[in-house]
Amino acid sequence: MNREGSPRNLGAASDFVGKNALEVIGRKRDGLEHKPEEIQFLLSGYVRGEIPDYQMAAWLMAVCIRGMTPAETLALTQAMIASGEVLDLSGIPGIKVDKHSTGGVGDKVTLIAAPLAAACGVKVPKLSGRALAHTGGTLDKLESVPGLTVDLSPERFIQQVREVGIAVAAQSPRIVPADKLLYALRDVTATVPSVPLIASSVMSKKIAAGADAIVLDVKFGRGAVMPDVAAAVELAREMVTLGEGAGRRTVALVTAMDNPLGLMVGNALEVTEALDALDGRGDEELLEVSIRVAREMCELAGVEVDPSEVLRSGAGRTTFERMLAAQGGHLERGLPEAPVKVAVASERAGFVAGIDALEIGLAAAEIGVGRLRKEDKVDPAAGLHIHAHVGMQVRKGEPLVTVHARSAELVDRVRDRIRNAWRFSDQEVRRPPHVLARVDRNGVTY
Ligand code: URA
Repeated sequence: MNREGSPRNLGAASDFVGKNALEVIGRKRDGLEHKPEEIQFLLSGYVRGEIPDYQMAAWLMAVCIRGMTPAETLALTQAMIASGEVLDLSGIPGIKVDKHSTGGVGDKVTLIAAPLAAACGVKVPKLSGRALAHTGGTLDKLESVPGLTVDLSPERFIQQVREVGIAVAAQSPRIVPADKLLYALRDVTATVPSVPLIASSVMSKKIAAGADAIVLDVKFGRGAVMPDVAAAVELAREMVTLGEGAGRRTVALVTAMDNPLGLMVGNALEVTEALDALDGRGDEELLEVSIRVAREMCELAGVEVDPSEVLRSGAGRTTFERMLAAQGGHLERGLPEAPVKVAVASERAGFVAGIDALEIGLAAAEIGVGRLRKEDKVDPAAGLHIHAHVGMQVRKGEPLVTVHARSAELVDRVRDRIRNAWRFSDQEVRRPPHVLARVDRNGVTY
């Protein structure tokens, strides 16, 4: 170790602070702990355009390999928040609760749990994202409702939460601008899967979004960023620590994303599935996890109402419809429907042992549910309706799924990928548990 930034040529590690980007990168390369001012220097310099992408990318890779201490992750989160504006929600009375998922395939829990919690009396100001890689985005799903906008001014956003109890809107580019820059760079430098980088990315946005409490859904498995339950628990702990450290009550559920969630993958299709769930119908696992998330939101808000009862009363659906209408949506005009609907049949008989969520997410993105390139437009009607979910028995020739697409050519392009996503067993299969752990300020419960 005799290069710039190494302790040997630049003094004792304990009091040394890197004075330029090269030194700061070198310190992380050598496994030393950053001082908060080094992180602040690096991040603010990058946002101002004074530190180039190649130096930031080198530092990000060093972080991926060396990791970060809790103090470093906190400093990074604070520097990210300080790069932009923080939303002031004091105009909304009561405890405001946000909800966030780290991203999945068929994950429409926000569309069910958030209005359900609002119907229970929780104030839900929620800023959401768009489809990313193979994972869906709440904003794209909502925009499949004719006329609906997710671009709300802060005044309109606050007013809607006051009146309806919930608003789901796009994040202003003025909130945590550092994350947009950093995420784009991480996406193309293989530096996304890092616990401190993900935790600071998510929590800086959640903290800057201004809610008093946050419920996190941290996913693991084939269709998620985290590979296994242990990694997801580690990420959940880090995020809970950051949230609680910022004075926000934070609870995380660790959930499985090996198989798609629910029966629909696609923007309008998932809105339909959410409406059905709010009527108490549909996939049991989806209903269960949505009620669980809504219950956590109620508990953090101190609202003593049972979300299952509220669901049965129909109030959750009414609140969802009021939210859609308040954002300009016209459900009565009907959701967009794909011109082509083609069933993909099973080539064998058996019990469905698994459906590869990553392959399903990639196939969905290819037919227009998400974007293959940044400039692509999503197809609101495209998607997959799963008929043979995990645990079900199918006969040869029975449909596994119906593909909704713009053209038959698109279906042909993804047919094999979709069919190969199914795994079968000759023995009966039980659906695996969906919620594996819960993390709060007192620790982890399994
Ligand atoms: N979602 C985010 O917002 N940031 C990450 O780093 C990963 C997932």
